[in-house]
Formats: sequence, C-alpha cells, structure tokens
Amino acid sequence: MKLLCIGDVVGKPGLSALRNHLRALQKGCGADFTIVNGENASGVGITPAQADDIFAAGADVITLGNHVFNKRQIVPYLEDNRYILRPANLAPQLPGEGAGVYEACGYRLLVMNLIGRCDMAFGPDNPFLAADKLLRQYEGRYDLAVCEIHANATSEKLAMGYYLDGRCAAVWGTHTHVQTADERVNPKGTGYVTDIGMTGPWWSVLGVKAEQSVAMFRGDLTEYFQPAEGECVLSGALFEIDTGSGMCRSVRRICNHIPV
Ligand SMILES: [Fe+2]
Repeated sequence: MKLLCIGDVVGKPGLSALRNHLRALQKGCGADFTIVNGENASGVGITPAQADDIFAAGADVITLGNHVFNKRQIVPYLEDNRYILRPANLAPQLPGEGAGVYEACGYRLLVMNLIGRCDMAFGPDNPFLAADKLLRQYEGRYDLAVCEIHANATSEKLAMGYYLDGRCAAVWGTHTHVQTADERVNPKGTGYVTDIGMTGPWWSVLGVKAEQSVAMFRGDLTEYFQPAEGECVLSGALFEIDTGSGMCRSVRRICNHIPV
C-alpha cells in the first residue's frame, strides 16, 4: 500500500497548488491513501470551506496542529466529520478526534495525529504516552497504524520515530514547513521523515512574505502576515507499506516545484 502524506498547506497559494496538482501526483506515484495537513489553509487555522477544498483536491484524511482552533467555525465540522483530525493529546474536553480508523486497500488503517510539546504554544499532554494510549485503545481494531507528529523540535520528532518503531508503518513530522532530508526506514520497520515540508509559496519564510518575516526579525512594526506569491512547492512523502508485515519498505520525499 502506498501512503502519500502532504505537508502543511499554506493559504490560497497552497490550496491552489493542491487543487491543481495533487490528483496528478497521486496518479503518478500510485498513492492508495492520502493524508494532508491543513492547519495553515487560512494562514493560521482552517475554515469548513477550505477543508471541503482539501477533500475535493484528493485528501482522504486532513490532519491539523497547533492552529486547529484559530478559525472557530471549524468546530462543528470537527464534530461532524470523522475524516478530519486534530491532535489527540490536546485537552480532552476540546471538540474533535485525534485518531481514526479508515479503510485503505481493504485494510483498516489507524491514523493518529499528535502534537509535540517543545516550544509549542499549547500545553498538550505527553505525546509519547498519548501514542501508547491510542495504540492500546484501538488494539484489535486496525491492521496498520501511522502517526503524524506536529512539532517544532527535530529531537522530539526523531524520538517519536524511534518510540513507535515497529509499532507504526509510518511516522512523519509536520509544522516546521522546511523539509528534512532524513527519510529512512527505522531498524524495526517504521518509515520516517522528520519534516515533510509545506505546500505553498517557495520564495517565502514558511509561506509568509519574506519581507514581512525579515521585518519582524528586525524588530520593525509589522502588519498582518500575508502569504507570499509566485512559485509554489507541493511537498510530502510517499511511504510504501508491506501490508503483510505492517511495516514500511521504502520512503520517498516529494518536493515538486510548480512554476507560476
Ligand atoms: Fe503548526
């Protein structure tokens, strides 16, 4: 089974890149199931219309992160649609689910969405213990498990890759928007990439107009961040999973440049 994971879709340029190029990518790489991180569809947060756009573009499941509730109108959508996940280790009283089991190639695929704790604004529960709890909770109800860890620190994401090695077919990081070149299959068979990158404007700082980010770091007065324009990238990773063993055979990074 081929699992395609797409990194954080940023603003209108990211949504447009996804709408115009995801189907061709899925066809080209033979993807059976596609998971897209959509928490930056509004820059920060995601609206129901943007979630609809991401599903229409070809996502099977949407994952989110620290900006999950920046657009509050997503709350009923999170409650009604089991194909959109928010991090599982946020406070339990918050709306939405952090994991789900989906049909993929006739197999029951458990998708877990977790958020890290290093330098993140929220105060989530321990994502390592949350992963254990979810795997126990769903035991016997899935054939393959995969996990997205939305986190800032490379160390925290790497540690999660080792922690779930042999227990998940794939673990990948999101949130930092800069793709890392460390794709591998870990010793016990878990496919892993520290950060799969973003889908949005290439000539930018994490999707934002570079000059605005530079101004912020200079200490200038800044205006509300705007997405950059021009050339985009569609970034992610493709995990080839052996359905017999439930482990990963290979990982391929994807960083497709889309000229204007
Ligand atoms: Fe994020």
